Amino acid sequence: MAKDDVELIKNGKRLDGRKFDDLRKIKIEVGVLKRAVGSAYVEWGKNKVMAGVYGPRELHPKYLRDPTKAHLRCIYNLAPFSVEDRKRPGPDRRSVEISKVSAEALSSVVMLEKYPNAGIDVFIEVLQADAGTRCVGLTAASVALADAGIPMRDLVPACAAGKVSGEIVLDLMKEEDNLGECDLPLAIIPRKKEIVLLQMDGKLTKDEFKKACGLAVDGAMKVYEMQKEALLSSINNVRIEE
Ligand code: CDP
Repeated sequence: MAKDDVELIKNGKRLDGRKFDDLRKIKIEVGVLKRAVGSAYVEWGKNKVMAGVYGPRELHPKYLRDPTKAHLRCIYNLAPFSVEDRKRPGPDRRSVEISKVSAEALSSVVMLEKYPNAGIDVFIEVLQADAGTRCVGLTAASVALADAGIPMRDLVPACAAGKVSGEIVLDLMKEEDNLGECDLPLAIIPRKKEIVLLQMDGKLTKDEFKKACGLAVDGAMKVYEMQKEALLSSINNVRIEE
């Protein structure tokens, strides 16, 4: 049973009617911000997240410049109105941590060596949050980087799994995240079959951990297909203005 004895699973179904291995509904739009070099907007369940990419461009402060490669920075921001209790505006420890791990995950696929001394800025703005926002942010950011035409080895799809009322389930929503026993978000590089982000909040046995990881990787692979589909249809929709 979950914390506070809340019944999160009834008759084999979750609170929103999903099966244990179902993702929430996901919609990915490409090229939504006019002033960004690349952008993407992702709705994932009740999450609404915008990602914008600026650069490659001159990097300031100068001491960050690296003559061998570009420096990729990421800023993850949870808007004050995105959560139930208003969030104090500005960075906090959580957003600094998510920004750092997201930048590291994205840096592992972007061909930074093509832009020595330059800076690439990735902004992830969470407009509405309902758990899993770091996964949604990374999913949106890697599509935005591809939309910017920045050479990449692959996309970085992400998804969480976890433990709710004793069951290992995919893609936790807010109630499950708050009241469940464990949340395990991860991000992958599908072509290399590598995990580039793995975090865990809660407790799992070794077998449960393996099962949750497998489920989250399968979920991320489904997200990967949706990312590619969104990028392909954005290319097909390009009209050359006369
Ligand atoms: O969003 P994610 O699951 O990646 O991160 P989390 O720290 O596990 O947060 C889970 C959820 O808690 C968020 O998606 C928000 O819905 C909520 N939250 C909140 O209400 N207020 C905050 N200051 C931070 C998170």
